[in-house]
Amino acid sequence: MAADVTTTAEWLALCKHAAEIRQVHLRDLFAADPGRGERFAVEVADLYVDYSKNLITGETVRLLTALAERIGLGDRIAAMFSGAHLNATEDRAVLHTALRLPRAASLTVDGQDVVADVHGVLDRMAAFAETVRSGQWRGHTGERIQTVVNIGIGGSDLGPVMAYEALKAYRDSGIRCRFVSNIDPTDIHDTTRDLDPASTLFVVVSKTFSTQETLANARAARRWLLDGLGGDEAAVARHFVAVSTNQQRVRNFGIDPENMFGFWDWVGGRYSLPSAVGLSVMLAIGPQRFADMLAGYHAVDEHFRTAPLERNAPVLLGLLNVWYTNFLGAQTHAVLPYSQYLHRFPAYLQQLTMESNGKSVTMDGSPVSYDTGEIFWGEPGTNGQHAFYQLLHQGSRLVPADFIGFGEPNHDIADMHDLFMSNFFAQTAALAFGRTAEQVEAEGTPAELVPHKVMPGNHPTTSIIAAKLTPASLGQLVALYEHVVLTEGAIWEINPFDQWGVELGKVMANQLAPLLTGEGPDLDGLDSSTAALIRRYRRQRDR
Ligand code: F6P
Repeated sequence: MAADVTTTAEWLALCKHAAEIRQVHLRDLFAADPGRGERFAVEVADLYVDYSKNLITGETVRLLTALAERIGLGDRIAAMFSGAHLNATEDRAVLHTALRLPRAASLTVDGQDVVADVHGVLDRMAAFAETVRSGQWRGHTGERIQTVVNIGIGGSDLGPVMAYEALKAYRDSGIRCRFVSNIDPTDIHDTTRDLDPASTLFVVVSKTFSTQETLANARAARRWLLDGLGGDEAAVARHFVAVSTNQQRVRNFGIDPENMFGFWDWVGGRYSLPSAVGLSVMLAIGPQRFADMLAGYHAVDEHFRTAPLERNAPVLLGLLNVWYTNFLGAQTHAVLPYSQYLHRFPAYLQQLTMESNGKSVTMDGSPVSYDTGEIFWGEPGTNGQHAFYQLLHQGSRLVPADFIGFGEPNHDIADMHDLFMSNFFAQTAALAFGRTAEQVEAEGTPAELVPHKVMPGNHPTTSIIAAKLTPASLGQLVALYEHVVLTEGAIWEINPFDQWGVELGKVMANQLAPLLTGEGPDLDGLDSSTAALIRRYRRQRDR
């Protein structure tokens, strides 16, 4: 059994250091070091990452990187890129980075030429996307495809929908995408009700092709299509394509494997956007821009693989998250994009981070003795400012926050963009430096109101800025967070690449489904709460 990380000299040094940092205020750290704002910043590809407004000193960074070295983070990173089976509980390589290797690269894993496989699928996707985008691909009745409906859930939904929304300004073919994920039939009903089946293409995305929600929605979509097109089964081939690792199940479902785009078991669902799972995005923005996104990912991959730990952006951000979680007691982490186009980014990150690092046993199966996996949440600015920022400014909790913004907008209302971004800079400064009682008094505030108007400050933020939201900078941003997750998981000695915890609920839903109809076996074996709830549900439904 590996030694518990909390017993290492490096961890204990950080505990001691945390007690000192608790006494320090960001106001004093900035006052003492006029160069701090630029010294605690790192550039990776188009991203400028300013981590100076965090509760750290140079010593904190030194101690955190010493911890990373102690646990062998460098070796873990190298192992991932080489295709080692880091996902030990499923005996799989973790190779999402191979999805964005350039065509000229070479990587053979478990006897397979991974680069050739990846580019083979990318080429098929591009050829298909061009036929649909150009109008050469026609629906069953000869109509051009106008709407693509992506059916998937989890990683088979959140990546595509996040990227489609983020890159809407780059949509150039007149093809619109919609996304159905929830097994609540409202979702498929509401998404399709104003569509014309003759011009709709369904992309059914499921790594396993066994996910209850996706198969139920795909069956409903198929019924809707056939009802709308006169019941001719031949229509399915012109209106359904699949993305999966499981060809047999795709065939069993009735989709021709000719219309299937594959990927591999070494791509986790939440890491799969740059695989064929991104097909809807490619249909909307075109193969070249999709390739630009992959190049963005790759630039950050290379940085992560080669930069020294103390100048390595994902490593630094991952270590900061560990610092707040394990040494300063933070429970949650806010992600606040100042871009309406990134409105699904926090939801995407929730799966990426929480499904990855929501674990409480180490790689060898021992229970962890420390917190793991902070709770990620967020909303785009400035909406959040008028909702939950009050708690960030004056609440009693420590909530580290990432602010993400762009210099140039994807529209020409430039003066409004300045106004918008002034909020980004104002909020990060206000959170860091606050407003003292003296400053509040000097404004003539009545004495009894002074404590209510004091802004304590010292709230940590990281600012991530890029020149513009483009396919490339989006790829960079996603890769940055993917590698933050690996860094944290390595320190916590957990496996960020499995997700056994979601299985129990799935199994139980399948067992309970027949009981809801009232025709299945009685409810005797159930706990009293679940049994009472199901009885009430049946009565309400049958009213
Ligand atoms: O239930 C969790 C999960 O397995 C995710 O990890 C995954 O992204 C999602 O379900 C969907 O799985 P699939 O792509 O196999 O349908």
